[in-house]
Amino acid sequence: MKYFDYIDEDLRSEEVSIKDIAKNIPTPFYCYSANAFKNNFNVLKNAFKDLELKICYATKSNSNLSILNILQKEGAGVDVVSAGELRKSLMANISPQDIVFSGVGKTYEEIEYAISNNIFQINVESVSELSAINKIAHKLNLVQQIGIRLNPDIAGKTHKNISTGSLSDKFGIPFDEVEEIFLNREIFSNLNIVGIAFHIGSQIHDIEPFQAVFKKTNELLKKINKNEQVIKVLDIGGGYGVDYENNNEEFPILEYADLVKSSFDTNELTIVIEPGRYLSWNTGALITKVLYIKKHGNKKFIITDSGMNDLMRPALYDSYHKIVPVSKIKNTEKIPTDIVGPICESTDKLLSTSEFYDVKEGDLLAILNSGAYGSSMSSNYNVRPLIEEILIDKDTFSTIRKRQSFEDIIVQEIEL
Ligand code: LLP
Repeated sequence: MKYFDYIDEDLRSEEVSIKDIAKNIPTPFYCYSANAFKNNFNVLKNAFKDLELKICYATKSNSNLSILNILQKEGAGVDVVSAGELRKSLMANISPQDIVFSGVGKTYEEIEYAISNNIFQINVESVSELSAINKIAHKLNLVQQIGIRLNPDIAGKTHKNISTGSLSDKFGIPFDEVEEIFLNREIFSNLNIVGIAFHIGSQIHDIEPFQAVFKKTNELLKKINKNEQVIKVLDIGGGYGVDYENNNEEFPILEYADLVKSSFDTNELTIVIEPGRYLSWNTGALITKVLYIKKHGNKKFIITDSGMNDLMRPALYDSYHKIVPVSKIKNTEKIPTDIVGPICESTDKLLSTSEFYDVKEGDLLAILNSGAYGSSMSSNYNVRPLIEEILIDKDTFSTIRKRQSFEDIIVQEIEL
């Protein structure tokens, strides 16, 4: 589904023309469609309609408070990976009982904060972490529900930087150790160890790796649950691939939902999913201005005012984001072209192409499908401010994060 498209000459989202936003807001800025988030959430919810499951949005993909508010109202829970994400989720009124806390390196303070807030489940990634959580829960005189994150040693077929399911990756606990934890679970007096979790990577298009993990997990479940229903919660992660290149590569979500239903005893288990990108990718665009155009022999450079500090994905994963003009341009130029940012790094390249629109200096461009892992991964590199974020809802648009000022950036520094 396209949430940014042309009507006549103007790129629009919902009923707002991007050009009109740019009249008021200096570039670069992110803008999102509120209804895109709602639609994406409901597509997922409908895919699982006859199954009661917890959809825990991976807030790391985009954690703006207003976006968390939208998803909360649609009925989403969240998957968080830091005290900051947890605090934001609580601020957005996500019920603590709809929150799972993942991550391989939670600090003492983060664990204490999570337990004190009575969250649904902490997913644990080592035996040492399990002992630490038990001690903290004991001190607080509370009992915490726990999921054990498996390392299934099955890699989701994806870019090597976002694959998490192999034993050579830092995530999870190997199968045989997991079984042992469940056998010895009584040692951990302040933990209620009832969950299994896994997440094998991100931007996975094929169903096969999921099939393989489900099969392996089911064998373990059967073993552990043989005499009594020890495992009651199954958190099967996220990772559903999206079609950045518009290659008819949509993730087969209905097939996946059927696979979940046919693989597990869903009457006995609470199923949790942790989708991030699937809910946020096509909801947002990064709007930028062409500053300069130059040629080095037969190569053209279009230099924009947004760079890898605003959108890191192309530099980090060679990932593709379609770029289009905000006001339609008919002519293109067939010449090797790099669209680059102002950062002093050669990897600060948003797109390399052999043909691009014949843009002029001052034109606006939209870097599409930047709703996931765009703003949330941005930084102050080169002492550039975090940029403004705009939310479009029908025919209105509002600022949902202000652009940082220089004072915001410098305030924490202590000049000796
Ligand atoms: N659950 C856990 C435990 C995760 O680590 C992640 C993502 C998710 C869920 C959500 O995965 P998703 O459904 O969004 O694929 N920065 C990279 C992606 C890194 C994903 C890290 N973990 C990118 O821009 O492609």
